[in-house]
Amino acid sequence: MRALFALLIATSPLAAEESEGLAAWDRIYDVASHPRCTNCHVGAQEAPMWEGLGYGAGAIHGMNIRADETRIGAESVPCRTCHVTSGRANTVAHAAPHILEAWRLPPVELAWLGASSAELCAQLRDPERNDGHDIESMADHVRSSPFVAWGFAPGAGREGAPGGPETFAQDLLVWGEAGTPCR
Ligand code: HEC
Ligand code: HEC
Repeated sequence: MRALFALLIATSPLAAEESEGLAAWDRIYDVASHPRCTNCHVGAQEAPMWEGLGYGAGAIHGMNIRADETRIGAESVPCRTCHVTSGRANTVAHAAPHILEAWRLPPVELAWLGASSAELCAQLRDPERNDGHDIESMADHVRSSPFVAWGFAPGAGREGAPGGPETFAQDLLVWGEAGTPCR
């Protein structure tokens, strides 16, 4: 009887939705924990991170860069001194990356660096810790943000986060429809 009950649950549409939601979450976590995203989503620390191109994992941004409370380094050397605002392709290895938006760190509460799957999941579904987004507006952000676009296609020899903005947005929506399950 118990086995039959378990079978019914496992094959119910709800269970299918939950398992799809968890699979989507795993892909979301693969992206959000990728260095191309966490190098900026560093949380309270003032320094961005570098990864790849010979720096290995866990390297602090060189030249003693500090984002400070302004997140653009206004109190010391502003990010834009090197990361100019430009839509040109990034092609030169070791040059400061640029996008068509003022280069900066995210607000402190969007801290992803070092977060486990369960921690990041709880954070991303909490509007108080995700910049006030519901899942649909988060998907819209992902589709339109030049920061996210750069993270998937950084150019200049850097490895992009897996997938692209559209697949990431779709995974967010599947995860949201399944009730934002975590693991
Ligand atoms: C150069 C820095 C930078 C990089 C790299 C970066 N972000 Fe962000 N991100 C930001 C900033 C700044 C914000 C705050 C919103 C804004 O100002 O656009 C933000 C906000 C977000 C948000 C909305 C807030 C939230 O927590 O829901 C999401 C989602 C997001 N980023 C995803 C990503 C993903 C995915 C990547 C990697 C593919 C990435 N970001 C890479 C700077 C960055
Ligand atoms: C003095 C110049 C300079 C300033 C100022 C500067 N950067 Fe950079 N940044 C660079 C250079 C150069 C690189 C590329 C390093 C390399 O690949 O060898 C870089 C790379 C980066 C990367 C990409 C790392 C990666 O591997 O994904 C991020 C993120 C970053 N900087 C954030 C910032 C932020 C945020 C600020 C302001 C708070 C800032 N930088 C200020 C020169 C600068």
